[in-house]
Amino acid sequence: MFDFTFHNPTRILFGKGAIARIREYIPQGARVLMTYGGGSIKRNGVYEQVQDALKDWQVWEYGGIEPNPRYETLMPAVELVRREGIDFLLAVGGGSVLDGTKFIAAAVPFEGEPWDILEKRAPVHAAVPLGAVLTLPGTGSEMNGYAVISHSAKRAKLAFGSPLVYPRFSALDPETTFSLPPRQTANGIVDTFVHVMEQYLTYPVDAPLQDRMAEAILLTLIEQAPRVMQNPTDYDARANIMWCATVALCGIVGVGVPQDWATHAIGHEITALYDIDHARTLAIVLPAVMQAKREAKRAKILQYAERVWDIREGDEEARIDAAIQRTREFFESVGIPTRLSAYGIGREAIPAIVSQLREHGMTALGEHGDITPEVAGSILELCL
Ligand code: NZQ
Ligand code: ZN
Repeated sequence: MFDFTFHNPTRILFGKGAIARIREYIPQGARVLMTYGGGSIKRNGVYEQVQDALKDWQVWEYGGIEPNPRYETLMPAVELVRREGIDFLLAVGGGSVLDGTKFIAAAVPFEGEPWDILEKRAPVHAAVPLGAVLTLPGTGSEMNGYAVISHSAKRAKLAFGSPLVYPRFSALDPETTFSLPPRQTANGIVDTFVHVMEQYLTYPVDAPLQDRMAEAILLTLIEQAPRVMQNPTDYDARANIMWCATVALCGIVGVGVPQDWATHAIGHEITALYDIDHARTLAIVLPAVMQAKREAKRAKILQYAERVWDIREGDEEARIDAAIQRTREFFESVGIPTRLSAYGIGREAIPAIVSQLREHGMTALGEHGDITPEVAGSILELCL
């Protein structure tokens, strides 16, 4: 196992009525900005619950943060926070609202052009404190220090991370997810699945606890996905999916082990160019990464095949093929196509995606750093 330092400061408030509990963790007298997305919270009762919880605070609102939150949308909120002396941010929504709010938090005290935090990896020395009310499990943003922000003028989608943007708390009430459309429920399941795979499907380092925690999340997702897809108001299934998503990317699964993240890096470029949902890009790219890297990942794919899919028959090549096929079928089972062609994207798109990777310095991806832009191109061929 590799050496590591692990610290996660986010307090999780989980369960029915969790939103009311945020009152205990917002500083008295704070000037609060509540951020949200396109309005789903006004149709499912979440907005009222948050308003009730915040009635003792002075509150500003900033709505309209879109999926794949854009720099252009977030900068007016940065100005608002600076102008009004707001000193606490409360993000209410899915991963996009949380990520966008993390960017606002880091951008407010930043001297210079805040986009440099993403493009030039400028260090974040301060951030406005934030909390979250999560309504879409999947990204793990509710308990991590990462955010992914898009810049439409530059056609870029880039990530940053800082210990200063972990939410102080996140309220997770599974009932808030009852209103999710099937497409977003499925996106969350697949995003969670791939977060685990990025931290698990690499090479063995004799870390059986991390392996079994990863496998536990994958098995739970496979078990719970049909329940939640069939019955969107099954509280326990929603709760199980929600906790899987949080645990998958709060850092605990990935400590002390190699990590991949090539699927995410390639997927972000596909979203930036073709506006395909984040999770859908992952469902396209992961099976191809498994295929292209079957030698380097051999031991872990075989372990995954046996422990997650109970594949025990056939020689090693057949078991690896079957594991890739079962992975693809799982994504398809929640309604997510796994081929670029299903999204109307053909071979002609590959050079543009590859050149975006090069432009963004994504030239040594994967746990061995050997996925060059050329290799990424051959992975994309396998996605067609
Ligand atoms: O905007 P509203 O009206 O709220 O509607 C949203 C949005 O249209 C809707 N929605 C959310 N909760 C709902 C709901 N609709 C009905 N009922 C509810 N309870 O769902 C739509 C999608 O929301 P979005 O926040 O975009 O989805 P998701 O949570 O999948 O977030 C995706 C973003 O997170 C980034 C992705 O790249 C993408 O930009 N990621 C962030 C990560 C992180 N911070 O660690 C890691 C991930 O790998 C990922 O990259
Ligand atoms: Zn993801």
